[in-house]
Amino acid sequence: MTDELGETIVNSKFSLKDIGIIGNSQPMKALARQIETTARCDLTVLITGDSGTGKELVARAIHQQSGRAALPFISINCGALSETLLESELFGYERGAFTGANQKQKGLFQAAHMGTIFLDEIGEMSPACQVKLLRVLQEGAVRPIGGHNEIAIDVRVIAATNRNLGQEIGAGKFRDDLFYRIAVLTIETPPLRKRSSDIPLLVEYFLRHADEKMKCPQRHKIEEEGLTALSVYSWPGNVRQLRHVIERLVATTFESELITTEAIFRALPASLLSEMATQLPIIFRENDSLDDFLDCMLLRAYEQLRKQTGSHSKAARLLRIDRVSLYQRVERARQRIKSSVAP
Ligand SMILES: Nc1ncnc2c1ncn2[C@@H]1O[C@H](COP(=O)(O)OP(=O)(O)O)[C@@H](O)[C@H]1O
Ligand SMILES: [Mg+2]
Repeated sequence: MTDELGETIVNSKFSLKDIGIIGNSQPMKALARQIETTARCDLTVLITGDSGTGKELVARAIHQQSGRAALPFISINCGALSETLLESELFGYERGAFTGANQKQKGLFQAAHMGTIFLDEIGEMSPACQVKLLRVLQEGAVRPIGGHNEIAIDVRVIAATNRNLGQEIGAGKFRDDLFYRIAVLTIETPPLRKRSSDIPLLVEYFLRHADEKMKCPQRHKIEEEGLTALSVYSWPGNVRQLRHVIERLVATTFESELITTEAIFRALPASLLSEMATQLPIIFRENDSLDDFLDCMLLRAYEQLRKQTGSHSKAARLLRIDRVSLYQRVERARQRIKSSVAP
């Protein structure tokens, strides 16, 4: 059986929700299939995608679905440690290898033996560390710092980055031989703006989570137009940002059960209008007056919001104006634009 893209459909035996990955949209269904096929083989994987799109969740899911599930999953953020610290964490060291190495220490590759190691933010790794990692991958063995013997390891490597490694290679910052070793399989996590139909599900999930975590006396609900506003917003920080906004909303409305649209507007880092203003290309004709120009902007903002919300009434509520007044403003702008372009 094949899907609309002609790919063979793999009947998912697991549900994303069971492993804490929320989403029902087409991109998420495709991601579930990729996780499943990737989990079945033991190859190295590179997960790419913007920050906050769930790369670490995907890495854990691959491990959990794989034959290594009962063995360790070890995660390390390559961008959070200095070069020397990262090397000693990854490869371990012998006693006396450097000042302060008072006793021998196993590295994370050894600790992950027979399991999976997740190298997050691999694009941040220094050139020296990249060389050492490449050797480990080629040899299937690590040599602790200051040591002479290689220790054989059997570890599946999953790496992630939000950088464009192709560009990093072009700029001489990332080794192409390491890239080809790592990107045997690749998975891309979709940005939230490309799967906004998942936003209500995520909101509900994070609400329940926050209610439980903060031991709220009641279960929070969200006003409908507030939920629409959350679905229209573009979420540059992706799911992580959505999660933080919901947690803040729950914490600040601890006493009442309803999270109002007003509270949501206050919690969003940029207003929907200012967001739209940055998205709309500005067209200015030579003989336009300021009023023509503003009418043009109004029409475009209205049309976009109407498309995103699916109705005039919802657009009006988000713009905090009543339906009739919005209709009159939009019509006036339409008529003026028509008459100003008429011969
Ligand atoms: N699809 C999803 N369902 C539920 N939570 C998610 C999803 N994607 C991301 N998250 C949450 O968002 C936050 C960031 O996820 P993470 O995997 O660390 O992203 P990344 O590694 O891409 O920056 C985490 O709290 C994670 O639980
Ligand atoms: Mg991450």
